[in-house]
Amino acid sequence: AEDIYILGIESSCDDTAAAVLCNGKIQSNIVATQQVHQQYGGVVPELASRAHQQNIVPVIHQAIAKANIGKKDISAIAFTRGPGLMGSLLVGTSFAKSLAMGLGVPLIEVNHMQAHILAHFIEEEGFKKPAFPFLAMTISGGHTQIVKVNDYFSMEVIGETTDDAVGEAFDKSAKILGLPYPGGPLVDKYANEGDPKAFKFPKPKVSGLNFSFSGFKTAVLYFIEKQTREDPDFIEKNLKDICASIQYTIVEILMDKLKKAVKETGISRVAIGGGVSANSGIRNALYDAEKRYKWQCFIPKFEYTTDNAAMIAIAGHYKYLKKEFSDFSTTAQARYKI
Ligand code: KG4
Ligand code: ZN
Repeated sequence: AEDIYILGIESSCDDTAAAVLCNGKIQSNIVATQQVHQQYGGVVPELASRAHQQNIVPVIHQAIAKANIGKKDISAIAFTRGPGLMGSLLVGTSFAKSLAMGLGVPLIEVNHMQAHILAHFIEEEGFKKPAFPFLAMTISGGHTQIVKVNDYFSMEVIGETTDDAVGEAFDKSAKILGLPYPGGPLVDKYANEGDPKAFKFPKPKVSGLNFSFSGFKTAVLYFIEKQTREDPDFIEKNLKDICASIQYTIVEILMDKLKKAVKETGISRVAIGGGVSANSGIRNALYDAEKRYKWQCFIPKFEYTTDNAAMIAIAGHYKYLKKEFSDFSTTAQARYKI
Protein backbone atom coordinates (compact mmCIF):
# COMPACT_ATOMS: atom_id res chain seq x y z
CA ALA A 1 0.00 0.00 0.00
CA GLU A 2 1.00 3.59 -0.50
CA ASP A 3 2.57 5.49 2.40
CA ILE A 4 0.21 7.84 4.20
CA TYR A 5 1.77 11.19 5.07
CA ILE A 6 -0.36 13.38 7.33
CA LEU A 7 0.53 16.98 8.11
CA GLY A 8 -1.01 18.01 11.43
CA ILE A 9 -1.56 21.62 12.47
CA GLU A 10 -2.39 22.74 16.02
CA SER A 11 -3.16 26.31 17.10
CA SER A 12 -5.90 26.06 19.73
CA CYS A 13 -4.21 27.95 22.55
CA ASP A 14 -0.71 29.42 22.83
CA ASP A 15 1.40 26.83 21.00
CA THR A 16 1.80 26.93 17.24
CA ALA A 17 2.61 23.40 16.15
CA ALA A 18 3.01 21.29 13.02
CA ALA A 19 3.97 17.63 12.63
CA VAL A 20 4.33 15.06 9.89
CA LEU A 21 3.48 11.40 10.42
CA CYS A 22 4.16 8.61 7.94
CA ASN A 23 1.88 5.62 8.54
CA GLY A 24 1.47 6.76 12.13
CA LYS A 25 5.21 7.21 12.77
CA ILE A 26 6.69 10.58 13.65
CA GLN A 27 8.77 12.25 10.95
CA SER A 28 8.79 15.69 12.58
CA ASN A 29 7.10 17.40 15.49
CA ILE A 30 7.65 21.16 15.76
CA VAL A 31 6.24 23.40 18.49
CA ALA A 32 6.69 27.15 18.79
CA THR A 33 5.75 28.11 22.32
CA GLN A 34 4.69 31.71 22.78
CA GLN A 35 6.75 33.55 25.38
CA VAL A 36 4.73 36.77 25.15
CA HIS A 37 2.15 35.61 27.74
CA GLN A 38 4.60 35.07 30.58
CA GLN A 39 4.69 38.73 31.60
CA TYR A 40 0.87 38.72 31.92
CA GLY A 41 0.69 35.58 34.07
CA GLY A 42 -1.66 33.86 31.63
CA VAL A 43 -2.61 33.52 27.98
CA VAL A 44 -3.81 36.75 26.34
CA PRO A 45 -6.06 35.63 23.44
CA GLU A 46 -5.40 38.62 21.19
CA LEU A 47 -1.62 38.21 21.50
CA ALA A 48 -1.90 34.46 20.99
CA SER A 49 -3.71 34.93 17.71
CA ARG A 50 -1.12 37.41 16.48
CA ALA A 51 1.78 35.14 17.44
CA HIS A 52 0.14 32.21 15.62
CA GLN A 53 0.00 34.34 12.47
CA GLN A 54 3.71 35.04 12.79
CA ASN A 55 4.69 31.46 13.60
CA ILE A 56 2.50 29.29 11.43
CA VAL A 57 4.39 29.54 8.13
CA PRO A 58 7.89 28.92 9.55
CA VAL A 59 6.59 26.12 11.81
CA ILE A 60 4.93 24.28 8.92
CA HIS A 61 7.97 24.81 6.70
CA GLN A 62 10.17 23.35 9.40
CA ALA A 63 7.90 20.35 9.93
CA ILE A 64 7.94 19.50 6.23
CA ALA A 65 11.67 20.10 5.87
CA LYS A 66 12.55 18.02 8.93
CA ALA A 67 10.36 15.17 7.64
CA ASN A 68 12.48 15.23 4.50
CA ILE A 69 9.51 15.29 2.18
CA GLY A 70 8.10 17.70 -0.33
CA LYS A 71 4.67 19.31 -0.13
CA LYS A 72 3.53 17.01 -2.95
CA ASP A 73 4.09 13.95 -0.73
CA ILE A 74 1.43 15.03 1.76
CA SER A 75 -1.64 12.77 1.67
CA ALA A 76 -3.91 14.95 3.78
CA ILE A 77 -3.91 17.91 6.17
CA ALA A 78 -5.34 17.55 9.65
CA PHE A 79 -6.05 20.60 11.80
CA THR A 80 -7.53 21.44 15.19
CA ARG A 81 -11.09 22.64 14.69
CA GLY A 82 -11.67 23.15 18.43
CA PRO A 83 -12.14 23.46 21.32
CA GLY A 84 -9.92 26.45 22.07
CA LEU A 85 -9.55 30.19 21.67
CA MET A 86 -11.46 31.39 18.61
CA GLY A 87 -8.78 33.80 17.37
CA SER A 88 -6.13 31.11 17.73
CA LEU A 89 -8.17 28.36 16.11
CA LEU A 90 -8.99 30.58 13.14
CA VAL A 91 -5.32 30.91 12.19
CA GLY A 92 -4.76 27.15 11.96
CA THR A 93 -8.13 26.49 10.38
CA SER A 94 -7.73 29.08 7.64
CA PHE A 95 -4.18 28.01 6.92
CA ALA A 96 -5.07 24.30 6.77
CA LYS A 97 -7.96 24.99 4.42
CA SER A 98 -5.89 27.10 2.04
CA LEU A 99 -3.00 24.63 2.00
CA ALA A 100 -5.28 21.63 1.39
CA MET A 101 -7.02 23.53 -1.39
CA GLY A 102 -3.72 24.58 -2.94
CA LEU A 103 -2.25 21.08 -2.82
CA GLY A 104 -5.50 19.37 -3.80
CA VAL A 105 -5.46 17.00 -0.82
CA PRO A 106 -8.18 16.08 1.68
CA LEU A 107 -8.80 18.30 4.69
CA ILE A 108 -9.44 16.60 8.04
CA GLU A 109 -10.86 18.38 11.09
CA VAL A 110 -9.77 17.12 14.49
CA ASN A 111 -11.16 17.60 17.98
CA HIS A 112 -8.30 18.71 20.23
CA MET A 113 -9.59 16.69 23.20
CA GLN A 114 -9.89 13.51 21.16
CA ALA A 115 -6.39 14.15 19.87
CA HIS A 116 -4.94 14.34 23.40
CA ILE A 117 -6.29 10.81 23.88
CA LEU A 118 -5.32 9.49 20.45
CA ALA A 119 -1.72 10.59 21.09
CA HIS A 120 -1.38 7.12 22.64
CA PHE A 121 -1.70 5.64 19.13
CA ILE A 122 1.39 7.31 17.68
CA GLU A 123 3.73 4.48 16.66
CA GLU A 124 6.57 4.65 19.21
CA GLU A 125 9.09 2.07 20.17
CA GLY A 126 8.66 0.99 23.77
CA PHE A 127 5.10 2.36 24.03
CA LYS A 128 2.06 0.09 24.00
CA LYS A 129 -1.28 1.24 22.63
CA PRO A 130 -4.28 0.83 24.91
CA ALA A 131 -6.92 -1.70 23.85
CA PHE A 132 -10.54 -0.56 23.65
CA PRO A 133 -12.38 0.23 25.78
CA PHE A 134 -10.14 2.24 28.08
CA LEU A 135 -10.43 5.26 30.35
CA ALA A 136 -8.57 8.45 29.53
CA MET A 137 -8.00 11.31 31.93
CA THR A 138 -7.07 14.52 30.10
CA ILE A 139 -5.48 16.99 32.46
CA SER A 140 -4.07 20.33 31.35
CA GLY A 141 -4.30 24.08 31.76
CA GLY A 142 -7.51 24.15 29.76
CA HIS A 143 -9.19 20.83 30.47
CA THR A 144 -9.87 18.17 33.06
CA GLN A 145 -11.95 15.22 31.91
CA ILE A 146 -12.38 11.51 32.40
CA VAL A 147 -13.40 9.93 29.12
CA LYS A 148 -14.59 6.42 28.33
CA VAL A 149 -12.96 5.58 25.03
CA ASN A 150 -14.90 2.89 23.16
CA ASP A 151 -13.15 3.33 19.82
CA TYR A 152 -10.96 5.88 18.01
CA PHE A 153 -13.81 8.31 17.53
CA SER A 154 -16.37 6.94 19.92
CA MET A 155 -15.77 8.66 23.24
CA GLU A 156 -17.96 9.56 26.19
CA VAL A 157 -17.11 12.19 28.80
CA ILE A 158 -18.04 10.59 32.13
CA GLY A 159 -16.54 13.27 34.37
CA GLU A 160 -15.21 16.79 34.03
CA THR A 161 -14.38 19.92 35.96
CA THR A 162 -17.23 22.18 36.94
CA ASP A 163 -14.93 25.21 37.17
CA ASP A 164 -11.11 25.50 36.90
CA ALA A 165 -8.91 22.97 35.10
CA VAL A 166 -6.33 21.08 37.16
CA GLY A 167 -3.47 22.90 35.41
CA GLU A 168 -5.00 26.16 36.61
CA ALA A 169 -5.03 24.80 40.16
CA PHE A 170 -1.28 24.24 39.81
CA ASP A 171 -0.61 27.56 38.08
CA LYS A 172 -2.78 29.68 40.38
CA SER A 173 -1.32 28.07 43.49
CA ALA A 174 2.14 28.75 42.08
CA LYS A 175 1.20 32.38 41.45
CA ILE A 176 0.10 32.75 45.08
CA LEU A 177 3.55 31.48 46.05
CA GLY A 178 5.15 34.10 43.81
CA LEU A 179 6.34 31.63 41.18
CA PRO A 180 6.36 32.63 37.48
CA TYR A 181 3.75 31.41 34.97
CA PRO A 182 3.17 28.60 34.17
CA GLY A 183 4.00 27.45 37.67
CA GLY A 184 2.91 23.79 37.39
CA PRO A 185 6.36 22.42 36.49
CA LEU A 186 7.96 24.47 39.30
CA VAL A 187 5.51 23.17 41.89
CA ASP A 188 6.45 19.68 40.68
CA LYS A 189 10.16 20.44 40.98
CA TYR A 190 9.96 21.81 44.55
CA ALA A 191 7.45 19.13 45.57
CA ASN A 192 10.06 16.45 44.93
CA GLU A 193 12.17 17.83 47.78
CA GLY A 194 9.35 18.56 50.22
CA ASP A 195 7.13 16.74 52.71
CA PRO A 196 3.68 16.05 51.17
CA LYS A 197 2.09 15.73 54.62
CA ALA A 198 3.51 18.98 56.01
CA PHE A 199 0.31 20.97 55.39
CA LYS A 200 -3.23 19.83 54.86
CA PHE A 201 -5.48 21.29 52.15
CA PRO A 202 -9.15 20.40 51.81
CA LYS A 203 -10.45 18.17 49.05
CA PRO A 204 -13.67 19.39 47.39
CA LYS A 205 -16.89 17.42 47.65
CA VAL A 206 -18.17 17.03 44.10
CA SER A 207 -20.76 14.52 43.00
CA GLY A 208 -20.10 11.64 40.63
CA LEU A 209 -16.95 11.74 38.55
CA ASN A 210 -16.81 15.53 38.28
CA PHE A 211 -14.06 17.78 39.58
CA SER A 212 -13.84 21.23 41.12
CA PHE A 213 -10.64 23.19 41.68
CA SER A 214 -11.76 26.75 42.36
CA GLY A 215 -12.24 26.10 46.09
CA PHE A 216 -8.82 24.51 46.32
CA LYS A 217 -7.11 27.59 44.93
CA THR A 218 -9.01 29.77 47.43
CA ALA A 219 -8.01 27.48 50.29
CA VAL A 220 -4.35 27.83 49.27
CA LEU A 221 -4.74 31.61 49.10
CA TYR A 222 -6.32 31.93 52.57
CA PHE A 223 -3.77 29.56 54.07
CA ILE A 224 -0.83 31.50 52.66
CA GLU A 225 -2.33 34.87 53.64
CA LYS A 226 -2.87 33.71 57.21
CA GLN A 227 0.60 32.20 57.53
CA THR A 228 2.43 35.19 56.04
CA ARG A 229 0.57 37.53 58.42
CA GLU A 230 2.16 35.58 61.26
CA ASP A 231 5.52 35.16 59.55
CA PRO A 232 6.38 37.25 56.48
CA ASP A 233 9.04 34.71 55.49
CA PHE A 234 6.65 31.75 55.66
CA ILE A 235 6.72 30.99 51.92
CA GLU A 236 10.47 31.27 51.65
CA LYS A 237 11.02 28.99 54.64
CA ASN A 238 8.50 26.36 53.58
CA LEU A 239 8.32 26.49 49.78
CA LYS A 240 9.22 22.83 49.21
CA ASP A 241 6.80 21.54 51.83
CA ILE A 242 3.99 23.81 50.58
CA CYS A 243 4.51 22.63 46.99
CA ALA A 244 4.68 18.98 48.06
CA SER A 245 1.45 19.35 50.04
CA ILE A 246 -0.34 21.12 47.18
CA GLN A 247 0.74 18.48 44.69
CA TYR A 248 -0.15 15.65 47.06
CA THR A 249 -3.70 16.99 47.46
CA ILE A 250 -4.24 17.62 43.74
CA VAL A 251 -3.01 14.13 42.88
CA GLU A 252 -5.33 12.66 45.52
CA ILE A 253 -8.29 14.56 44.04
CA LEU A 254 -7.49 13.16 40.59
CA MET A 255 -6.83 9.62 41.80
CA ASP A 256 -9.99 9.49 43.94
CA LYS A 257 -12.13 10.12 40.86
CA LEU A 258 -10.08 7.84 38.65
CA LYS A 259 -10.49 4.98 41.14
CA LYS A 260 -14.20 5.69 41.21
CA ALA A 261 -14.35 5.63 37.40
CA VAL A 262 -12.52 2.30 37.25
CA LYS A 263 -14.92 0.88 39.81
CA GLU A 264 -18.03 2.15 38.07
CA THR A 265 -17.05 1.11 34.54
CA GLY A 266 -15.14 -2.06 35.37
CA ILE A 267 -12.41 -0.82 33.00
CA SER A 268 -8.91 -0.86 34.46
CA ARG A 269 -6.97 0.32 31.43
CA VAL A 270 -6.18 3.93 32.21
CA ALA A 271 -4.44 6.49 30.00
CA ILE A 272 -3.51 10.09 30.80
CA GLY A 273 -2.85 13.03 28.52
CA GLY A 274 -2.46 16.82 28.58
CA GLY A 275 0.24 19.02 30.08
CA VAL A 276 -0.34 17.97 33.69
CA SER A 277 0.38 14.32 32.82
CA ALA A 278 4.03 15.39 32.88
CA ASN A 279 3.62 15.79 36.65
CA SER A 280 5.76 13.34 38.60
CA GLY A 281 3.15 13.01 41.35
CA ILE A 282 0.41 11.77 39.02
CA ARG A 283 2.86 9.56 37.14
CA ASN A 284 4.01 7.90 40.35
CA ALA A 285 0.42 7.48 41.51
CA LEU A 286 -0.33 5.59 38.29
CA TYR A 287 2.77 3.39 38.54
CA ASP A 288 1.63 2.64 42.07
CA ALA A 289 -1.90 1.78 40.87
CA GLU A 290 -0.43 -0.69 38.36
CA LYS A 291 1.16 -2.58 41.22
CA ARG A 292 -1.50 -2.10 43.85
CA TYR A 293 -4.71 -2.44 41.83
CA LYS A 294 -3.36 -4.26 38.76
CA TRP A 295 -4.41 -1.42 36.45
CA GLN A 296 -2.81 -1.17 33.05
CA CYS A 297 -1.59 2.43 32.78
CA PHE A 298 -0.58 4.37 29.70
CA ILE A 299 1.60 7.42 30.14
CA PRO A 300 2.56 9.26 26.98
CA LYS A 301 6.00 10.39 25.98
CA PHE A 302 6.65 13.88 27.34
CA GLU A 303 6.47 15.66 23.97
CA TYR A 304 2.98 14.26 23.36
CA THR A 305 1.56 15.39 26.70
CA THR A 306 1.54 19.15 26.17
CA ASP A 307 -0.15 20.67 23.15
CA ASN A 308 1.45 19.38 19.96
CA ALA A 309 0.56 18.63 16.36
CA ALA A 310 1.66 14.98 16.34
CA MET A 311 -1.53 14.14 18.21
CA ILE A 312 -3.56 16.08 15.63
CA ALA A 313 -1.80 14.20 12.85
CA ILE A 314 -2.44 10.76 14.39
CA ALA A 315 -6.14 11.59 14.83
CA GLY A 316 -6.05 12.70 11.18
CA HIS A 317 -4.38 9.43 10.21
CA TYR A 318 -7.20 7.35 11.65
CA LYS A 319 -9.82 9.57 10.02
CA TYR A 320 -7.93 9.26 6.74
CA LEU A 321 -8.20 5.47 6.95
CA LYS A 322 -11.96 5.88 7.33
CA LYS A 323 -12.04 8.52 4.56
CA GLU A 324 -13.63 10.96 6.98
CA PHE A 325 -12.81 14.18 5.23
CA SER A 326 -14.07 17.70 5.89
CA ASP A 327 -15.80 20.08 3.61
CA PHE A 328 -14.06 23.39 2.87
CA SER A 329 -17.06 25.08 4.50
CA THR A 330 -15.92 23.81 7.91
CA THR A 331 -15.13 26.49 10.49
CA ALA A 332 -13.28 26.81 13.78
CA GLN A 333 -15.39 25.98 16.81
CA ALA A 334 -14.39 27.36 20.22
CA ARG A 335 -16.72 25.00 22.08
CA TYR A 336 -16.54 21.59 20.52
CA LYS A 337 -17.73 18.44 22.26
CA ILE A 338 -15.77 15.19 22.11
O1 KG4 B 1 -1.57 20.71 27.61
P1 KG4 B 1 -0.92 22.00 27.97
O2 KG4 B 1 0.44 22.26 27.41
O3 KG4 B 1 -1.80 23.20 27.49
C1 KG4 B 1 -3.15 23.30 27.72
O4 KG4 B 1 -3.48 23.85 28.79
O5 KG4 B 1 -3.93 22.83 26.88
O6 KG4 B 1 -0.90 22.10 29.55
C2 KG4 B 1 -0.30 23.15 30.24
C3 KG4 B 1 -0.54 22.98 31.71
C4 KG4 B 1 -0.11 24.18 32.54
O7 KG4 B 1 -1.12 24.47 33.47
C5 KG4 B 1 1.15 23.69 33.24
O8 KG4 B 1 1.40 24.32 34.46
C6 KG4 B 1 0.82 22.24 33.44
O9 KG4 B 1 0.20 21.85 32.23
N1 KG4 B 1 2.02 21.42 33.67
C7 KG4 B 1 2.29 20.82 34.85
C8 KG4 B 1 3.54 20.16 34.70
N2 KG4 B 1 3.97 20.37 33.43
C9 KG4 B 1 3.03 21.13 32.82
N3 KG4 B 1 1.61 20.81 36.01
C10 KG4 B 1 2.14 20.12 37.03
N4 KG4 B 1 3.31 19.46 36.95
C11 KG4 B 1 4.05 19.45 35.83
N5 KG4 B 1 5.19 18.79 35.76
ZN1 ZN C 1 -4.51 20.65 25.13
